[in-house]
Amino acid sequence: MSKAKDAAVADTTGKDTAGEPLLRVEGLVKHFPVKKGLLQRQVGAVKAVDGLSFDVHAGETLGIVGESGCGKSTMGRLITRLDEPTSGRIEFQGHDITHMSAGKIRPLRRDVQMIFQDPYSSLNPRHTIGTIVGAPFKLQNVEPEGGVKQEVQRLLGLVGLSPEHYNRYPHEFSGGQRQRIGIARALALSPKLVVADEPVSALDVSIQAQVVNLLDDLQDELGLTYVIIAHDLSVIRHVSDRIAVMYLGKIVELSDRKSLYERPMHPYTKALLSAVPVPDPRRRGLKSERILLQGDVPSPLSPPSGCRFHTRCWKATEVCRTVEPPLIQLEPGHEAACHHPENAPDQIPDDTTVLASAREAIALVGDAVAVDPAVAEAGESAEAPKTVGTAKSEKTAGTAEAPSKGLTKE
Ligand SMILES: Nc1ncnc2c1ncn2[C@@H]1O[C@H](COP(=O)(O)OP(=O)(O)O)[C@@H](O)[C@H]1O
Ligand code: SF4
Ligand SMILES: [Mg+2]
Repeated sequence: MSKAKDAAVADTTGKDTAGEPLLRVEGLVKHFPVKKGLLQRQVGAVKAVDGLSFDVHAGETLGIVGESGCGKSTMGRLITRLDEPTSGRIEFQGHDITHMSAGKIRPLRRDVQMIFQDPYSSLNPRHTIGTIVGAPFKLQNVEPEGGVKQEVQRLLGLVGLSPEHYNRYPHEFSGGQRQRIGIARALALSPKLVVADEPVSALDVSIQAQVVNLLDDLQDELGLTYVIIAHDLSVIRHVSDRIAVMYLGKIVELSDRKSLYERPMHPYTKALLSAVPVPDPRRRGLKSERILLQGDVPSPLSPPSGCRFHTRCWKATEVCRTVEPPLIQLEPGHEAACHHPENAPDQIPDDTTVLASAREAIALVGDAVAVDPAVAEAGESAEAPKTVGTAKSEKTAGTAEAPSKGLTKE
């Protein structure tokens, strides 16, 4: 984590205390129309992003986390203006860029860059590394001091590659090296904001930490601001200053890192945290329990009424089904959208009758089972999964497959 950012982000609520935020997003919406028939009539819309509001301050890292399909990549493409928002507002350095035309947005392309998830498909196989990393200079008509080749070779060195790689092709590199090439390309024009969309999820676990550490070091060295997207809280744990948890197109919790990990307020965050593998093998024998969400994520074509999480939440009551909880600050620097939050006063304490579906919304699994399925298979696991609530949930109890469902790694 950058040292500079501590000063920049004095107030973790996202309210600006050190000048304007670098990026301000208000009520951002992206609905993809679904069309059918010969006339291509619109019959519905995929509500990929459905009202996001957050700030990103200069020098900080905002982590965005949530299950696959919750709208993270769409959000990334909207704030880098690769996609056109349906509604809402995006401000970069105080300027409204929400619907800026292609011509006007060109200078912004220097300041805001994206690192993509798949280092295999994001690099053109027919181009040399020199052409790929040097492309932004051509596109923006920029002639760096000392020439493009020298600058590309400097960038390759910066990301831990050799300047001699200049004339080589992407297929000659491993996944981790390719992602370093993607990072070098993103940094070519000295951007102010870098949006990294699951930058390590296509890589071997053994090299994920190297690439995350590289991003962290580059931030310190170059004073970068990051939005890092991940589907797994473990990836962004050490690099984020603040974290936004997304569920079905909405932010359900937004907090500084420490508070989120130590006192999660939204039941969904609690389940996500519970699914983070424990890296320390000495802790594998612990008999603590993990929450395993049952059921699939509902479709963003017709999200559930009220709180979108109510179909999978073990605390859901009638009000959850009917009234959407607003994202509000429940503690300084800690916002959550929940009627019955964890680690905070109940917002509707009189509403105590949980929905029938809530009783089978989760299973609890022994720590050892979730940490290492191989151990579980070998019969060394201390506990089989057990469900909370009714006997109806027996379908999940005691099965070796149970840990692979729900919120384990994608
Ligand atoms: N271009 C598109 N057209 C239609 N639907 C899309 C498009 N891009 C994404 N979606 C849908 O929007 C939802 C969110 O997708 P995405 O932003 O990729 O989620 P995530 O990155 O969190 O996995 C998904 O249901 C996905 O199928
Ligand atoms: S308790 Fe209710 S409002 Fe809170 S996450 Fe669960 S369903 Fe949503
Ligand atoms: Mg994605």
